[in-house]
Amino acid sequence: MTKAQDSHQPQANSYIFDAESALEMARLLDLDKIITETMGGVLAEHTTEQLSGIQRILDIGCGPGGWVHETAFAYPDKEVIGIDISQNMIRYAQAHAQVRGLQNAHFQVMNALDMHMLSENTFDLVNIRLAVGFVPSSQWPNLLAECKRVLRPGGILRQTEIEVGFTNKPSLETILAVGQEALHRAERGFSPTGRHTGMTYMLRFLFLQAGFQQLGKQTYAMDFSTGTQAYTAVFNDYKLVLLLAKQLIARTGMMPENEYNTLYEQAMDEMQQADFCGMSFLLTACGKKPM
Ligand SMILES: C[S@@+](CC[C@H](N)C(=O)[O-])C[C@H]1O[C@@H](n2cnc3c(N)ncnc32)[C@H](O)[C@@H]1O
Repeated sequence: MTKAQDSHQPQANSYIFDAESALEMARLLDLDKIITETMGGVLAEHTTEQLSGIQRILDIGCGPGGWVHETAFAYPDKEVIGIDISQNMIRYAQAHAQVRGLQNAHFQVMNALDMHMLSENTFDLVNIRLAVGFVPSSQWPNLLAECKRVLRPGGILRQTEIEVGFTNKPSLETILAVGQEALHRAERGFSPTGRHTGMTYMLRFLFLQAGFQQLGKQTYAMDFSTGTQAYTAVFNDYKLVLLLAKQLIARTGMMPENEYNTLYEQAMDEMQQADFCGMSFLLTACGKKPM
């Protein structure tokens, strides 16, 4: 890493949730597992041959470090570095790597919208997963330009985003729609109406605009209906994320708190019914920095 440049202006914390919250950390620990499982592993779409050229990996917005830990464990020959704005997440991630004896996993507190501390051409792969909540829509070109700067020529940018679930339950649909609209009002994602998260379909455009080449994509469907493998993880995730979203809803003036609380209780009841059905979609996009 290079020394700070003189003209540097620090960026504010732009996460829609409190990044230091223990609740948020608990949520991310469980979410990480089900997402990695749904995607068939940490780097499942890459062949062994493709991975052989990759030595240094950066994970942006790594949370409590699940993806970094699993990648470092699966590929002991590679160095994996996670950055996150949250001191608590990084402290936990570091401690967990130490407990597991993962000497090739490293972590640093850093604002991803301000990565001037990272030297150019130093990573073979940059991974981003679920970043819609901390990157204001207008900031995507800057973030991707920074990813390109820190990647070596021929290095890979890999980003995974999710479209929040579609379900057969009215209160859950309503509260999820309120959350999507709040995200839109907070200028996150690219949905022009706030009807959806609005990241997955933008990745190709954003990657091309940033100058990445040889684009590839992989899609995943996550069924979290009652009785499926993903059900409990997604139920717990919604239980926490919809609680954490209260502050955002209040900030964006979407709905009075008592109305939101009633809707929340109804949505949680609906998810526990035997005929509950729900599905989410994930997309991973990859692109190469030109040689
Ligand atoms: C939805 S979580 C995703 C965590 C992880 N990538 C995963 O997929 O499990 C978003 C993470 O971004 C972190 N974050 C928020 N703002 C950030 C910023 N400006 N720079 C770096 N990390 C940030 C949060 O602390 C949180 O850990």
